[in-house]
Amino acid sequence: MASLSSWLLLAALVAAAHYVLRLLHSFLWVPYLIERRLRRQGIGGPPRSLLSGNAADYRALLAAARSAPLASFHHSIVARATPQYTEWPARYGRPFVYWFGPRPRLVVSDPELVKTVMTDPTGAFDKAGTGGNNPLARQLLGEGLVGISGEKWARHRRVIAPAFNIERIKAWIPEIAATASSILDKWEVQGESRTEFEVDVHKEFHTLSADVISCVAFGSSYEEGKRIFQLQEEQMKLALLAMRTVYIPGFRFVPTKKNRTRKSLNKEIRSSMRKLIEINGRKCEDSKNLLGLMLSASKAGNEFKMGIEEIIDECKTFYFAGKETTANLLTWATLLLALHQEWQDKARDEVLQVCGRFEHPSPENLSNLKIVAMVIKETLRLYPPALFINRTTTRDVKLGKLDIPAGTRLDFPIIGIHHDCDVWGTDAEEFNPSRFADGKSYHLGAYFPFGIGPTICVGQNLAMVEAKVALAMTLQRFAFTVSSSYVHAPMMLMTLQPQYGAQVIVHKN
Ligand code: HEM
Repeated sequence: MASLSSWLLLAALVAAAHYVLRLLHSFLWVPYLIERRLRRQGIGGPPRSLLSGNAADYRALLAAARSAPLASFHHSIVARATPQYTEWPARYGRPFVYWFGPRPRLVVSDPELVKTVMTDPTGAFDKAGTGGNNPLARQLLGEGLVGISGEKWARHRRVIAPAFNIERIKAWIPEIAATASSILDKWEVQGESRTEFEVDVHKEFHTLSADVISCVAFGSSYEEGKRIFQLQEEQMKLALLAMRTVYIPGFRFVPTKKNRTRKSLNKEIRSSMRKLIEINGRKCEDSKNLLGLMLSASKAGNEFKMGIEEIIDECKTFYFAGKETTANLLTWATLLLALHQEWQDKARDEVLQVCGRFEHPSPENLSNLKIVAMVIKETLRLYPPALFINRTTTRDVKLGKLDIPAGTRLDFPIIGIHHDCDVWGTDAEEFNPSRFADGKSYHLGAYFPFGIGPTICVGQNLAMVEAKVALAMTLQRFAFTVSSSYVHAPMMLMTLQPQYGAQVIVHKN
C-alpha cells in the first residue's frame, strides 16, 4: 500500500515538474530567443517584464488615454482610441514589438506588407482569431467565422457567403428601409410637437442594426433577440477584460466570480440561440437567409455539412459582428455630418434628387447615392469600426526585409494606417469625402476597413447597403447638428465607439 502511494506521489511530482518545465520553456526560453532575433534586426519596443510582457503597460496606456475626452471635436483620434499605435512607435520606431505574456505582437504599418500577408495563399499566416490564444476571450464569438481558420473556415465560408452576396442584400432593401423608417418615426414621436430635439444616435443605430441583422440573417426581430443582444453585451465586457490580461493555461477552469459569470452567460446564450433556431429554422429553410443556408448544410449528405453546435457558434458571431460594426459606422457618419454641415447639405441634396422627399431608397436607385457613399467611405477611413487585424505566423517567414519567427502575432493597425500622413498626405486627419470621388480607390493595404483577401468581411455588402439606406433616410427627414452635450471621446470597446454616447440635435425637415 505504502509503495503504491509512493508511486502515485512520484508520478504527481513528475507531472508537476513537466508542467513547470513546459511553462518555463514557453514563458521564458522561447520569448528570449524571439526577442533576440527581432532585436538583431533593429526591431525595438517597450521593455517587457518576464512573465506578463507589456500587458500592464498596455492597460496603463489605455486607461490614461481614456481618462479625459478630446479638447474639441477633431479627427486626430488615434492616440486616444489606440495609444499603443502612437506612443510606442514614437519612442521605438516602426515596426515595433510589444508583448502579451510570452507572445510577441509585431506592429506592422507598411501597406505593402499588409497586403502581402493578407493575400498570402501559402498558409504562413493564421487568423489568430478574437483573443488569440485566450479561450476566455474567444467565448464571445465562439468558434464562428471570425475565430476559425483552415479547412473549417473554408467550409463555413462556402455555406455562409451566399447569404450576403450583393443581389441577395439588394433584395432586402425594402425591409431595411422599413426598419429605418420605424426608428425615425419614433424620433418624431419622441420630439412631440417640438421642431428640434436631442437624440443619442449611438443607441438608436444599435437598435436599427440589431433589427436588421435579426431580420436579414435569421428571419427574426430585435424584440425576439433582445435578450441575446443584452447577454452578448455583458459577454463582450468580460471578453475585453480577458483580452487585456495574460492568460495562464488552465485558468478558465478556476471558479472565480468572473469565470462563473462567463460560464453562465455562455450557457444562456447558447440555449437562447438553440430556441431561436427551433422557432425560426423551419420558416428560414426556404428563404435562403443565413440560418436557412446553414440548416440546409446540416442535412446529411451535404458536402459542407455543419453540426448544430457549429451553427450556434455562427449565430453568435453574426448576432455580434452584424450589429456592433454597422451601428458604429452609422453613429460616426451621423456625427461627422452633424459637424460638417456643408457635406450634410450636399448629401441631402443628392438624396432628395435621387429618392425625392418621401420615397425610400430602392434597389434600383441606391447606386446613384454617390455622395452618401463617399461620406460612408471617408467615415470608415477616419473612424474604422474594426481598429486592427491580426495574423500569427505558422512558421518562420521572410517578409520584405524582416525575418519573422514562427508564433509571432502581426498586428495591422487599420486606424493608424488610415490616419497616416505618409499615406494620405497632410490632410490625413481631415474629413474630406472628395478623396473617394468618382470611385477613386487606394492601395489595398492603405485603406482596408473591411480587411482584404479571402477573409475580407463577409458582411461588407450588408453593412454598406444598410448604412446607405439608413443615412439617406435620416437626411431625408431630418437636419442635424452636434449637441452641446456631446463629448468627443472615441474609444476602443471591441469596436470604435463614442465613450459617452453620440448626442445630436435633430431638426425636422
Ligand atoms: C461597417 C461594418 C463592418 C466593418 C468595418 C467590418 C470589418 C471587418 C473586418 C476588418 C474583418 C476582418 C477580416 C480579416 O480578419 O481578414 C471582418 C470580418 C468579418 N465580418 Fe465584418 N465588418 C463590418 C460589418 C459586418 C457585418 C454587418 C457582418 C455580418 C453580417 C460582419 C461579419 C463578419 C464576419 C463573419 C467576419 C469574418 C470573415 C471571415 O473570416 O471569413 N461584418 N469584418
